[in-house]
Amino acid sequence: MLTVLDHPLIKHKLAIMRDKDASTKEFAEELDEIAGLMAYEISRDLPTKPVDVETPMGICHTEKLGADVVLVPILRAGMGMVKGIRDIIPIAKVGFIGMYRDEETLEPVEYFAKFPKDLENAVVMVLDPMLATGGSASAAIDKIKERGAKKIKLVNLVGAPEGVKYIEEHHPDVDIYLAALDEKLNDIGYIVPGLGDAGDRIFGTK
Ligand code: PRP
Ligand code: URA
Repeated sequence: MLTVLDHPLIKHKLAIMRDKDASTKEFAEELDEIAGLMAYEISRDLPTKPVDVETPMGICHTEKLGADVVLVPILRAGMGMVKGIRDIIPIAKVGFIGMYRDEETLEPVEYFAKFPKDLENAVVMVLDPMLATGGSASAAIDKIKERGAKKIKLVNLVGAPEGVKYIEEHHPDVDIYLAALDEKLNDIGYIVPGLGDAGDRIFGTK
């Protein structure tokens, strides 16, 4: 299922990021902050378990998170969302998948993967600011499923309709969360209006 997180703070921060004149610092800070705001909504259906906590006044029968949460940023750009989400979900573990898009074919090329144990019982959040053709996210999800993950959420900042359709077709069991659904891809596979090359803008490499 696709959820576009329609919130004034997210819109405001994303508008700052979209500006071609935003600095690397502004871009990276706003991305992290949006990721944190998105985490609140994305974690709404996490399971909880009953716990008893001793307060200064007595025993409180209350709840804590009842499942492991694993964040899997798609390197490089997904790294820009990790801190913001861990600020909200500090118990989250982190795995990594390195993937780049071949500039000619637009096909994803994997170059690294390392995950925590026991993905079977975890809620896995795959992080990447951009969902363009959907090839990178889909390949990352394939890999995570191979490692046993059953409950996967794909968290992107900006998506193109083409990428959403691709994930819905290939991974109908995965929930997709976006801060904005943009108009289209251009002829070199970039999201329009989008925000350009997210990895380069986060890490100042262009
Ligand atoms: C970008 C982006 C996604 C991918 C999206 O990564 O961060 O991973 O492209 O495109 P797709 O949906 O068409 O696969 P890029 O290949 O530029 O690598 P980088 O993060 O290292 O810059
Ligand atoms: N990757 C990006 O970083 N930006 C796009 O618009 C598409 C793919």
